Amino acid sequence: MTQRTVFVNGDYVDEREACISVFDRGFLFADGVYEVCSVLDGRLVDFEAHMRRLRRSASELDIVVPWDDPSLLEIHRELLRRNALEEGMVYLQLTRGSSGDRDFHYPEMATPTLVLFTQAKALVDAASGHRGIRVVTQPDWRWARRDIKTVQLLYPAMAKMAARNAGVDDAWMVEEGFVTEGASNNAWILTAEGRLVTRELSHDILPGITRAVVCELADALGLVVEERAFTVEEAQSAAECFVTSASSFVTPVIELDGVAIAEGHPGEVVRRLRERYIEESRRRAL
Ligand code: PDD
Repeated sequence: MTQRTVFVNGDYVDEREACISVFDRGFLFADGVYEVCSVLDGRLVDFEAHMRRLRRSASELDIVVPWDDPSLLEIHRELLRRNALEEGMVYLQLTRGSSGDRDFHYPEMATPTLVLFTQAKALVDAASGHRGIRVVTQPDWRWARRDIKTVQLLYPAMAKMAARNAGVDDAWMVEEGFVTEGASNNAWILTAEGRLVTRELSHDILPGITRAVVCELADALGLVVEERAFTVEEAQSAAECFVTSASSFVTPVIELDGVAIAEGHPGEVVRRLRERYIEESRRRAL
């Protein structure tokens, strides 16, 4: 397999040569934020919205973003070009950088570390997007500022391993009986009355970029979106369930904690939303 070219602090380098400090706070304290932009036809989906959220995440943690949006767009495009990526994702990570030692306090003068790399992946033809995924619930034991897209992803990794060990595809997080979100996606249901329900934005969940686009598309399709929390039982008896994220678009959930949703087949509404989302993303990609 050919080696990727990755971006590290201003340089495009072979992935085997890329290096950052062992004192980098991203490594020592998970003191950093990230974004994942999907790529269709060699172009970036929802780039501007992802960069807006990056700046918001960074500013909540007093991390400086020393790159403007045109420069960040240029870096993304250059990486796509150098890696000849047509479909997949670009991962961006920005950390507070290094003070040259380990100290809990934020350093006064640290240059943030910016790393980007590409990941090739079939997104449109992903089998999960068509046949759906099976999910188990896990207690939401993450911290209380899940609206900030930080790189502290150990708990989501543990939840995904619990799902794998249970023989299914993913996990939904539950707090006080209500679903917060998926381990790396936003969770949705379609009620028997035909209303789409997804949890309202707060510190409890990540404000998904795909979630926002799907809210718009739903509106255009004449579907009502109710932003509120729902229980596991409500999801299990829903007409349809699905998840949204940059790397999975709109993906049906066909089983939750062993209970088949809509007889275990992807529903019609999720199928239409996925199709519309892909069309619209292709049209708007930069
Ligand atoms: N995850 N909620 C969580 C906890 C997430 O990690 C993600 C994205 C989302 C969906 O956000 P968006 O629609 O902006 O991708 C919701 C990315 C894809 C990841 O960690 O790989």
